[in-house]
Order: sequence, then C-alpha cells, then structure tokens
Amino acid sequence: MENLDTFSTVLFVDECLMDEERTHAFENAIQNTVKAGDIVVDAGTGSGILALFSARAGAEKVYGIEIDEASAALARKSVQANPDGKKIEVVVADARSFTLPAAADVVTMELMDTGLISEQQAVVMNALRKGGVIDSHTKLIPSKVVCAAELVSYDFDFYGFHMPLVMQARNNGVDARVTNYFSEKTPYQNVDFSDIVETLVKSRVTITPTKDGEVNAIRLTTQTFLTSEITVWGTSDMNMPVVIPIKPIQVKVGENVNVLIQYEMGKGFENFSLIVE
Ligand SMILES: C[S@@+](CC[C@H](N)C(=O)[O-])C[C@H]1O[C@@H](n2cnc3c(N)ncnc32)[C@H](O)[C@@H]1O
Repeated sequence: MENLDTFSTVLFVDECLMDEERTHAFENAIQNTVKAGDIVVDAGTGSGILALFSARAGAEKVYGIEIDEASAALARKSVQANPDGKKIEVVVADARSFTLPAAADVVTMELMDTGLISEQQAVVMNALRKGGVIDSHTKLIPSKVVCAAELVSYDFDFYGFHMPLVMQARNNGVDARVTNYFSEKTPYQNVDFSDIVETLVKSRVTITPTKDGEVNAIRLTTQTFLTSEITVWGTSDMNMPVVIPIKPIQVKVGENVNVLIQYEMGKGFENFSLIVE
C-alpha cells in the first residue's frame, strides 16, 4: 500500500542528533548521573544516542524504548555499530505501557516541546512512575522544566498576507520576526518530574512590561533542568520558542498584564488557550 506518512522518520531522528547543544547537554548529564552497574531506561530512544551515552557511562543494561518501528530500526543500527551497544536492548513499545521487574536506576527521556504542549514527556513520566519503572530512587534526566511567557511584538505579515498564526520553527526560526521584547521571561508553570505531574495547566501569570508599546503576541519558552546543574533553554530542535498571537494591546511600564494560559500537556495546540485578561 502507498505510504501516506506525513512526516519523515529519518528527518525527525536526525534533527535531534544534529542538535549538538541539546545532545551534549544530555551527554554531560548522563555522564554525571549514570554509575557502573546501573539499569537505565531511555524512553523514546530514536537514534539510540541517549542509550549509547548511558552504556558508555557504565550502565550494565539499557532499555531503549521506541514506539515507532522505523525509528527503532535506526536505533538498532546505531547499537550494532558500537561496542557499547551490546548493553542496549531496543524494545518496540509504547513507553507508557513498558514495565520492568524492578524500578530503573536512571530514566532518560527527550519527548519535549515548548511548554510540553504537544509532546508526551509528562504523560510518559507519569505512566512509568505508575507502572513502577520509576520509584523514589530513580534518577531522572531531565528532572524538571520551567515554562515561561513574555510580551513581544511580532511581524505576522507573510508574502503580502496578514497571518496571525501560532508560530513554531526549528533553529529558533520564529525569533527573526520578533520586532520588540516588552518583558522578561516570566515563569507560568514549574514541572517537577520527581512526582506525578499535573498535566492540566491552568495558570494565571502576571507579566511586568519593561517598556511602553503595542504587544501583539506572547512568546513561550522553556528551560530544561537535565540535572540541577545542567540546564538548557531552547536549542535548534528542542523547546524552540513559540509565538502565540493575541489581539493587540497597549502596554505601559508600571501596568502589569495578566495572562491566563490553559492546556492539557501532550494534546497539542488544538487544546491550547491563552487569554489576556
Ligand atoms: C524527540 S525524539 C528523541 C530521540 C532521542 N532520544 C534523542 O534524544 O535524540 C523522541 C522519540 O520518542 C519516540 N516516542 C514518542 N512517544 C513515545 C512513546 N509513547 N513511547 C516510546 N517512544 C515514543 C518518537 O518516536 C521519537 O523517536
């Protein structure tokens, strides 16, 4: 039958691999965390790179869980091409239903997009905790994320048309059209993976303008804590800034702006709402 897949598996997996800022940050966090003899679960293994880092750091066994058969085939190729790969077992499964006889020592996972709006990081972390793969001794990479919002003006005019759409692009591509920044990044949600995560976001954030002018968008960003010391904001392929159009408002220094942000993590922009109050 004709393959009607909309996206290229190879592109998705390779874009992650090419994102050196992201991948080196994970490498350092894994090197600092995984100890000799550890049992590691890498949920959403893609190319297998995070599993290979854990194997190289001394893990006794690494389970690379991948929901997509084609991506798992790529992971198997990486695993077979490297001596450390013999400690890695690639498992084709939905990580939400993966279980082990005992909790893992370390779980690595990069199913992240800005605000965890579309991807499954929080949902999969919760499922692994409920299924016993994560317990109180399991070290998590990342351990938490902080989601932030800021006031900006944005050029939504494309090729002679006004297109006030949600803007998201690799390589921080949306930022080229930010014409002015009117506030600091202001946290609206702290997501701590050390316990079950509340996936329903209903957050009223008060943003303080740093200058006067017209704001027509909110820029969302996310800071990832791979460990308490190793943190990273948006990289070329992970948690890139997202711009949400709003009805233009005049802001003034000294007059705070209240924004209500609501969504269910992992369900995408179709279930996202942002209201300036
Ligand atoms: C952003 S990529 C990261 C790949 C790799 N871990 C890395 O860091 O380069 C996310 C991967 O997770 C897989 N994935 C998404 N949801 C999953 C799930 N519920 N269970 C297992 N794998 C999943 C995707 O197919 C994709 O290969």
